[in-house]
Amino acid sequence: MKVLGLQFENYRNLKNGYIKPCESVNVIYGENAQGKTNLLEALWLFCGGHSFRGSKDNELVAFEKKFAVLNSVFYSFEREQNAQIKIINGKKEIKINDVPKKSSSALIEKYNAVVFSPEHLTLIKRGPSLRRNFIDSAICREKLKNAVIISKYNKTLNQRNSLLKDIFKHPELKDTLEIWDDALCVLGASIIFQRNKFLKQLTEFAGEYHKGISQNSETLKFSYFSNAGIDPEDEEKEISKKLKQAFIKYRNDDFNTGYTNVGPHRDDINIIINSKKAKNYASQGQQRSAVLSMKLAEAEILTKRTGEKPIILLDDVLSELDNSRQEFLLNKIENYQVFITCCEKSNKKQLKKGKIFKVEKGKII
Ligand SMILES: Nc1ncnc2c1ncn2[C@@H]1O[C@H](COP(=O)(O)OP(=O)(O)O)[C@@H](O)[C@H]1O
Ligand SMILES: [Mg+2]
Repeated sequence: MKVLGLQFENYRNLKNGYIKPCESVNVIYGENAQGKTNLLEALWLFCGGHSFRGSKDNELVAFEKKFAVLNSVFYSFEREQNAQIKIINGKKEIKINDVPKKSSSALIEKYNAVVFSPEHLTLIKRGPSLRRNFIDSAICREKLKNAVIISKYNKTLNQRNSLLKDIFKHPELKDTLEIWDDALCVLGASIIFQRNKFLKQLTEFAGEYHKGISQNSETLKFSYFSNAGIDPEDEEKEISKKLKQAFIKYRNDDFNTGYTNVGPHRDDINIIINSKKAKNYASQGQQRSAVLSMKLAEAEILTKRTGEKPIILLDDVLSELDNSRQEFLLNKIENYQVFITCCEKSNKKQLKKGKIFKVEKGKII
């Protein structure tokens, strides 16, 4: 898809106006706190979710104003379409092609984007739950069935954990644990299998982007880490069998702690740059390049699934990257419509083809 136009009224600090982006790279440039991220955020809202900064809807309305309106004209599934988001009384009202919709999820199928914001760097350095969330949200976007399985797994896990706490007081309940183990190992095996399948795709696409960004000097790979010692390359049935054995093996630990110690809810993804774990060894620039490659790979995988290319929103990615890495991002992400914010004047000069917008005190020039 491509965004042909975006109009904004009373949106954050942006002065009421309109932009007409080009179909390739759009550089949004200006000093700090001028409204660059606000502009990317406005585009992202059309994907049907929340702000990528975690802001509440009413925080998006300009100070002292009662409502905000965003209108976008975009080209998707071979036709020009329009969408409107009105934010009023802390809620969003949505219209697609002039028809009111009940919820913003109606936008999801039509409008696709991938976003990188500096907060996403925590994906590499922080604990495993962020990486599990990243991969789970990716496999859910791939197949609705995966979302159902993950939700059932979490529900069953909570029930097993409550039972473990009850067993502490009523040891006679021990025998009922197996019912939950049986359900969990089937659901869990499916999650491990799907996550591992996605990681292989990610290694292929993200690996290729990382090679480009690093001018062939680095390799980026992903592997699945099972805390139950399961080989994710096994058949789903075999994974299920081994998961069951692991639940039995760690039962005493579970009784002692009152929660389930092994299973996909405790697993992790190893992110490996040049054969070393990125979490422990990667430099700032390498981390940034790795997360970017993951996001661009997400775009490729999304394109493969939907047949429609998402737009790519890159917030503040250029800092901490050396010249050649910046050059790659500005000129080598082909066939995508890209919106990229930056502070440095020099980045303007690196851009070979595209459009430049200057943002000054909320005014877009
Ligand atoms: N609801 C709002 N109304 C008016 N101004 C806002 C609102 N929310 C944020 N701002 C202002 O927007 C500015 C930040 O814009 P932002 O896009 O994050 O800047 P940057 O150009 O650095 O990316 C801040 O000065 C902030 O006070
Ligand atoms: Mg910003």
